[in-house]
Amino acid sequence: MHSRIPLVLLLLSLLVTGSLHITTAQPVGICYGTFADNQPTAQEAIPLIQTVGIQRMRLYGPDHNALQSLRNTKIEVVIGVPNEQLQSVASSQDNANQWVQDNIKNYQEVNFRYVVVGNGITPAHDQTSQFAQFVLQAMQNIQNAISACGLQNKIRVTTAIDQSEILIQSCPPSQGQFRPEVRQFIDPIIKFLVNNNNVPLLVNLHPYFSYVHNKADIPSEFDAHGNSGQTPRLEYATFQRQDPILQDGPLGYTNVFDAMVDSVHSALEKAGGSSLDVVVSEIGWPTDGGDAATIENASTHNTRLINHVLNNGTPKRPEKRIETYIFNLFDENKRDSEEFERHWGVFDNNKQAKYQINFQF
Ligand SMILES: *[C@@H]1O[C@H](CO)[C@@H](O)[C@H](O)[C@H]1NC(C)=O
Repeated sequence: MHSRIPLVLLLLSLLVTGSLHITTAQPVGICYGTFADNQPTAQEAIPLIQTVGIQRMRLYGPDHNALQSLRNTKIEVVIGVPNEQLQSVASSQDNANQWVQDNIKNYQEVNFRYVVVGNGITPAHDQTSQFAQFVLQAMQNIQNAISACGLQNKIRVTTAIDQSEILIQSCPPSQGQFRPEVRQFIDPIIKFLVNNNNVPLLVNLHPYFSYVHNKADIPSEFDAHGNSGQTPRLEYATFQRQDPILQDGPLGYTNVFDAMVDSVHSALEKAGGSSLDVVVSEIGWPTDGGDAATIENASTHNTRLINHVLNNGTPKRPEKRIETYIFNLFDENKRDSEEFERHWGVFDNNKQAKYQINFQF
C-alpha cells in the first residue's frame, strides 16, 4: 500500500506542472450579426446556439431582444457600444452611466464578459476615422460606470480593431507593427488596457479576404510548394497543412490564423503592450458568392479553426489558448458591397446548420 502514495503524488505533480504551462481551453463563441430582415428572432436564435454547444456570443450592439433571451442562460456575452454611440458616451459621464444602466445593469441575469467600445475603428480609414477621436474617452467613461457598480472584476472594457487595417506589415509575423499614423490612436488604448490589469485587445481577422484578394498574409509564392489536393494558399488559409509553410526565424507557421494573431502580438510588443492577450473577435468563411466560398470550404475552415484554438496556442505563445468568436451566426442579407458578404452564416435563416459543426469537440 505504501508504495502507492508516492505514485499518486507524482501523478498529481505532473498534472499540476502540466497545467501551469497551458491555459485551459477557451470555449469558442459566435458573432451575432443582425444586419438582415429575414433572420430568425433572438428568441429562436439563443436556444438554437445552445444545441451546438456555443457558450459565448458577441453582440455588436445593445440588442434588447437578444439580451432578454440571454437572461439566465449562462452564455457569456460580449456586448458592443456601436460606433455611432461613441460620441454620446464619450461626451459625458452621465451618458456613459445611462448606457451601462440601460444595457448592463438592467440585465443582471445576463452573464456579461466584455464591453467592446467601438468596432474596427482606425484613424487611417475614411469609413471609421470620424469615430477615432471618441474611443479612448468612451472606454474611460464606460469603465468608470462599470466600476461604480462594482462590476470591474467581472466585466472588462476593451475595443475591437481590424488586424488588416491597423498593421502596416504582418508577414512574417515577427515583423508585425502598427501603422505609424495609427500610433497616436492605439498607443493610449494599449496603455488603458495595460493599466486596467491587462484587459485583452479584441482583434477582427479576415483570412478569407487575404485569400481572395491575394494579400501579403498569404504569399502567392506558396503555390509553388504544392503537394496534393487544394492549392497550398487555400490549405494555409483553412488549417489543412501539417507542415510549416512559412518559416519566421525559429518559428514555423502551418496556418494564416496563427500568423495573423502573432503579427498582432509582435505589434503589441513594439508598442508597450507585450503583457496583453489577443482575443479574436471575428473570423469566418463565407459559403457562397465568391472564390472558394463554398459550404465545404467554410466547413473545413470553421471546423478546423475550432479544433485548433481549443487545443493549441500560436507559435509565439504556444501556452496561450486564443479566445475566438466565429463570424457569423446567420446570413446578413442587408450587407451591400460584395456578394460573399451576405453568406457568412453557420446557420441558414431557416435555422438549419449549413454543415455539421460542434463548438465543443
Ligand atoms: C474550395 O475552394 C477552391 C478554390 O476556389 C475550389 O477549387 C474548391 O472546389 C473548393 N472546395 C470545395 C470542397 O468546395
